[in-house]
Amino acid sequence: MRIAVYGASGYTGRLVAAELRRRGIEVVLSGRDAGRLRETADGVGGAEVRPAGADDPAALAAAFRDCDAVINCAGPFTTLGLGVVGAAVAAGCHYVDTSAEQEFLADVFERFADKAQQAGVAVVPATGYDILPGDFAAHLAGAAVEPVEELVVAYDLNNFGMTRGTLRSAYDMLHGTQLGYADGGWNRTPRPPRRAAMRFPGGDVESPVMAWPGCEVVTVPRHVRTRNVEVVINAAAATPEFAQLLQAPPEAAARVIDALPEGPAEHERPAAAFTVLAEAVGADGRLGRAVIRGRDVYGSTAVIAVEGARRLVAGADRTGVLSPAQAFDIADFLRFLSTHGFSYETQVAARV
Ligand SMILES: NC(=O)c1ccc[n+]([C@@H]2O[C@H](COP(=O)([O-])OP(=O)(O)OC[C@H]3O[C@@H](n4cnc5c(N)ncnc54)[C@H](OP(=O)(O)O)[C@@H]3O)[C@@H](O)[C@H]2O)c1
Repeated sequence: MRIAVYGASGYTGRLVAAELRRRGIEVVLSGRDAGRLRETADGVGGAEVRPAGADDPAALAAAFRDCDAVINCAGPFTTLGLGVVGAAVAAGCHYVDTSAEQEFLADVFERFADKAQQAGVAVVPATGYDILPGDFAAHLAGAAVEPVEELVVAYDLNNFGMTRGTLRSAYDMLHGTQLGYADGGWNRTPRPPRRAAMRFPGGDVESPVMAWPGCEVVTVPRHVRTRNVEVVINAAAATPEFAQLLQAPPEAAARVIDALPEGPAEHERPAAAFTVLAEAVGADGRLGRAVIRGRDVYGSTAVIAVEGARRLVAGADRTGVLSPAQAFDIADFLRFLSTHGFSYETQVAARV
């Protein structure tokens, strides 16, 4: 099995390359800068380097030739992603990525569904911390009480130090077009969340939450019969510095981000703890609930992306563009993640 990592010299790309090596999978490192790719290869104990610009289809085709899958880690995906998806599909490779931008995901579903099917490959964007656990939790909560009237995916994060790459993508996401899913259809004018506060597991009181442009809005209606999907985040997770950065004009924000460290140091990563809570209210009033918890956003993303790509190569059940919940056996994937510090639980209850 040979898997190419595009954007291999970035913070997440390096973790993905190292995880592929740890799993004993042959890895090809690709990206725009040959020198940085060679440094990455040295850092993971050696790997083949195939430079290619994100907007150079011929070079991407040469980079992905004879590979079974591509893991794309080069963001922001709204500006860099589509060419890499196209090249992976054209080369007959399965594809996963670490994107979390709604607009990009919606574009991938629209533009590549038929092409991926014709090529006999599975394209599964957002196969990282964002949004595989959220998509799984939404399916587990929602499928138990279908048809669903209201489905909320809520994120709680503690000690999350973001990389420069995450900040760039988050800035783009929060300033770009945002999608909503309400009354059985997608729209470009999402309404404010119905709930202003939620009780996260382990919390004694409800925590204020705020809207987040999560990709579950794009994926969940494809596998849960639901009229509404919302994504929210614990308001306490948005630090004042983050909120201030989002208010800055693009050039000023870019300067601030460029001056920050690349991302959390290795010893700081495990401190980042996350909880993904999905609550679905069925048309009959029953409540479905699923919780997935883990630590280390970036390390977990590498584990998830590599396992996702590995599973597709080992035997994709379906082809085309798929959400994580459509592409993978949820229970089996969660069992695998439980060996990497994840925990999960589901409940169905009559609503009081
Ligand atoms: N979904 C999730 O849970 C999750 C988790 C982690 C990361 N992410 C996303 O993954 C992306 C990367 O994050 P990161 O922290 O690894 O960021 P990063 O360290 O800044 O890495 C960005 C990568 O993109 C490449 N790149 C940037 N501009 C490019 C261009 N014009 N052409 C070709 N390649 C280009 C960089 O190449 P050079 O090395 O040559 O600069 C680098 O490999 C971001 O979009 C982030 O939001 C998502």
